[in-house]
Amino acid sequence: MGEGTNDDSQATRPQGLGYEVHGDRRGSLPVFERQWEEMLAAEAEPEFGPQEQLFAEHKIAALQTILPPPSATVLECGCGSAEVSAAMAAQGYDCTLLDASPAALHVARRRFERRGLRATYTLGNVYSLPFPDDSFDILTSFGLLEHFADVEKVIAEMVRVIRPGGMFFADIVPERFSVQTVGTVFNAGVRLAYYGVQGDPRRGLHEAGRLFRPDFYENDYPLARYRQYMRDAGLRGIVIRGNRPVPVLTLPGALERPYVAALRRGGDLWRRFDEAGTPLTNWWGAGWWAWGVKLGEQVG
Ligand SMILES: C[S@@+](CC[C@H](N)C(=O)[O-])C[C@H]1O[C@@H](n2cnc3c(N)ncnc32)[C@H](O)[C@@H]1O
Repeated sequence: MGEGTNDDSQATRPQGLGYEVHGDRRGSLPVFERQWEEMLAAEAEPEFGPQEQLFAEHKIAALQTILPPPSATVLECGCGSAEVSAAMAAQGYDCTLLDASPAALHVARRRFERRGLRATYTLGNVYSLPFPDDSFDILTSFGLLEHFADVEKVIAEMVRVIRPGGMFFADIVPERFSVQTVGTVFNAGVRLAYYGVQGDPRRGLHEAGRLFRPDFYENDYPLARYRQYMRDAGLRGIVIRGNRPVPVLTLPGALERPYVAALRRGGDLWRRFDEAGTPLTNWWGAGWWAWGVKLGEQVG
């Protein structure tokens, strides 16, 4: 395990993981490791496009209404490039970032340092977190839990390190039908058309097909199963809600701008959708936000 703060700048770039993460390595980590290695090599800040930026803004605004306020301590598990944690650190949260990929931690550190933000960076495995019981006020994960078949073990381990009365928050992007499935059909059509015009329809078919065979999901559990695992882990006041009624679309800049502008104009409707928590919004929403409080006293 490697641990450090901004003062401890790791000059050398770590090579590979150096230890087993899932035991049998069936998990999706190697897929991510490759992605972070490429991003690290590219030297470019992994900035979001206009759509992802807007989605992140909605998420960060929602978190302000759900989470205890700064300067609570926050552990983000599977932080990747830590975009949301960077926004939280800027608000005054005391952030610890954990990922099993050394390259991801370097990308996160680079993002924080470029913005003049501080964090503690920990190389670690969510199956066995390198922290004592009851360590953090808040534990977050974004786009992580769907990558584990035995997710109940991961949730139990996460809850272990939250202090009694502290909060668990997970942004789950499950593999199932949602608005994003509709978006994926559109995006596949764009690829077919693009490569067709380029005279390479086989490539178009290949790229379109890949969209329907993502290689990073490890579970497709329904919402009720997540709720049960959270309860079993000792969380109470559990809420799970569908969020984001609109898809990510592959669009050229000239079309993406009006799309994002239209989504911004519909911001109130979108917020109402995210707050509804009805069977319809839970089904249609691109993801689920799940939160609950660890049994014990309230934070603050
Ligand atoms: C889909 S990415 C999400 C990144 C980031 N949270 C975001 O929203 O952009 C999942 C992250 O989890 C990390 N990860 C996968 N398995 C892990 C494990 N067993 N322990 C810790 N991190 C893990 C990957 O390296 C990757 O950075």
